Amino acid sequence: MPDLADIRAALAAPVIVAPMFLVSSPALALAACREGLIGSLPAHSARTPKQLQSWLIEMREGLAQARSVTTGPAVAAYAVNLVMHSTNDRASEDLELIIEHRVPIVITSKGAPGHVVQRIHEYGGLVLSDIANQRHAQKAASAGVDGLIAVCAGAGGHTGTLNPFAFMNEIREDFDGPIVLAGGITTGRDVAAAELMGASFAYIGTRFIPTLESLAEEGHKRMIVASRASDVFFTAAVDGAPANFLAASLVSVGMSLEELAVTRPGKIVAVKDHKRWKDIWSAGHGVGTIHEVQPAAEVCRQIVAQYNTYRAAR
Ligand SMILES: Cc1cc2nc3c(=O)[nH]c(=O)nc-3n(C[C@H](O)[C@H](O)[C@H](O)COP(=O)(O)O)c2cc1C
Repeated sequence: MPDLADIRAALAAPVIVAPMFLVSSPALALAACREGLIGSLPAHSARTPKQLQSWLIEMREGLAQARSVTTGPAVAAYAVNLVMHSTNDRASEDLELIIEHRVPIVITSKGAPGHVVQRIHEYGGLVLSDIANQRHAQKAASAGVDGLIAVCAGAGGHTGTLNPFAFMNEIREDFDGPIVLAGGITTGRDVAAAELMGASFAYIGTRFIPTLESLAEEGHKRMIVASRASDVFFTAAVDGAPANFLAASLVSVGMSLEELAVTRPGKIVAVKDHKRWKDIWSAGHGVGTIHEVQPAAEVCRQIVAQYNTYRAAR
């Protein structure tokens, strides 16, 4: 299988469309791959291992079909996200499916990638590990991952809190492999800027929530279109881990922003009759550049065109 440098060289722009729980779908991942960007799926977003199996078959068949007819950009590889946290009781079963389907790129999150790296390398797969501080970076690097995903302040979902310039510099002190930069990236200009900062790839999540192919609730899509960066609220009180949410969606399930603002770290605020993540909507600081719900292919093409413009100008 190709290495990350080969995969990157074949892309229309160095972008990974990030995995998002209850948002990413095979249709979204395939649309990205067809446009020459890396598409991805979170394994745990499939309701059951059986559904994950059918998603992986859909990816294989969809990519083969796209490769047989493409006259545009080279069809990109795809990635699957595996949550390493001990609360993920499906991790082993999902890992076996990933291995069976020889998923080209595996994104590990919420925990050290440890033993899975070797299993994935055995079939030629690559491992990217998401990290939020230098200690995570050192741990993942020593586990032998192929690249690090620096999740910086302003990212959608569970977020880091570090400034991207500061964090990139710290990672570079002891890691010289590929870095994927995440947090608030929405345009091709941002992708070119991430490259200038030394990243090999940009990781883009929120920008793809309001797409036709995303599984997000319609209200979530509309709220993103109507939001600015200052409408995004940072709290660890929804599920215990620091994350960014749309303030209006926290309020709509009866949460008080004043109470959340003074909730001590580690305490989870109860939400009655609503499901976290399904009814409380996450987004990163990049929302302000998103003005409509679009087909994912159109968003990919905009990002690639902007990226080419800014690269040519350098
Ligand atoms: C709604 C939502 C769900 C997410 N779910 C996951 C997930 O299941 N696994 C994961 O590794 N990251 C998840 N993330 C984080 C993204 O993979 C990525 O780090 C983030 O979206 C990048 O920042 P951006 O949204 O500002 O582009 C999620 C993000 C959002 C917005």
